[in-house]
Amino acid sequence: MTYIGKDIETAAAMLANDQVIAIPTETVYGLAGNALSISAVTKIYEIKKRPLTNPLIIHLPDTTQFHKYVKNVPAIAVKLAEHFWPGAFTLLLPKKDIIPDIVTAGLPDVAVRIPSHPIAIELLRKLSFPLAVPSANPFGYISPTSAEDVKRILLGKVDYILDGGQCTKGIESTIVGFDGDTPVIYRVGAISPEAIKKIAGKVEIHNKHTEKPISSGMLPSHYAPNTSLYLTNNIELLLEIFPRTGTGILAFKNISPVIAETNQEVLSVSGNVDEAAYNLYKAMHRLDNLKLDRIIAERVPNVGIGIAINDRLERASNK
Ligand code: TXA
Ligand code: MG
Repeated sequence: MTYIGKDIETAAAMLANDQVIAIPTETVYGLAGNALSISAVTKIYEIKKRPLTNPLIIHLPDTTQFHKYVKNVPAIAVKLAEHFWPGAFTLLLPKKDIIPDIVTAGLPDVAVRIPSHPIAIELLRKLSFPLAVPSANPFGYISPTSAEDVKRILLGKVDYILDGGQCTKGIESTIVGFDGDTPVIYRVGAISPEAIKKIAGKVEIHNKHTEKPISSGMLPSHYAPNTSLYLTNNIELLLEIFPRTGTGILAFKNISPVIAETNQEVLSVSGNVDEAAYNLYKAMHRLDNLKLDRIIAERVPNVGIGIAINDRLERASNK
């Protein structure tokens, strides 16, 4: 059985017992297990049906234990961490031996994040180990931003979902590694490249699709609904091509007069990209559940968190 509850003590006891549960963060819900336990981490990969070549992010409550897990931290990483933690920001840093190789898929760097969700922090504080927490979706599918969406997509696969309400950011963390003292973004996310550049003075985006991607932010198809998704700058144009029945719309600001309202989602009536991010995955889950023939999605302005929204829509449309 899969239960949704708010009992942090229960969650902590299950995790200490090597079980895998779903937990809330401010970005998306995650599938959590003891990052120092090979058995718990193996379960995470199995539940997600995730290839063992795709590493996990470890989550800490604060920076007190930070140096137990990573080494050779560049000064620029400290500066960025001071600015963006707790928050939707993940650092790639050389791992110490205490982190099992399965967590990093054999890579020398481990991804580390300190989330800002109060329930996630309270839970992490109760534990004597970091949590490995990938998004709580089957590999390649849309990430969940509510306990109900987790329950629907992982029914029977986890025993407990710790309910922390709707995720306030709605899109995954930004993953940043380093080339010397230059921050390199491996996955665009809730923290924009501009914001990072403001603190670091420079930033590069590593978005090349490689044969062996080290970050799923580099996979051409990911975050995708089962329904075919077409991405466009002009919804009306695509509506002339496709039959109207069986068509759903994922619009930025405006509802379409020619499609049934129940088959549409508008991400932000006021045109705010942060609100659009908050609504994005929830909207994608609802539209996918309608089992339509296709979804037409509209690009949002490519500023701030809008860059990450467009990135996710792009990958969702690449199936
Ligand atoms: O906001 C988030 O980051 C959420 C919440 C739950 O914290 N977590 C999340 O985890 O999005 P996941 O596993 O779904 O995505 C993490 C990405 C993966 O694409 C993985 O390949 C990449 O981080 N990653 C993890 N460790 C890495 C490493 N050592 N080097 C390069 N990429 C890494
Ligand atoms: Mg994910």
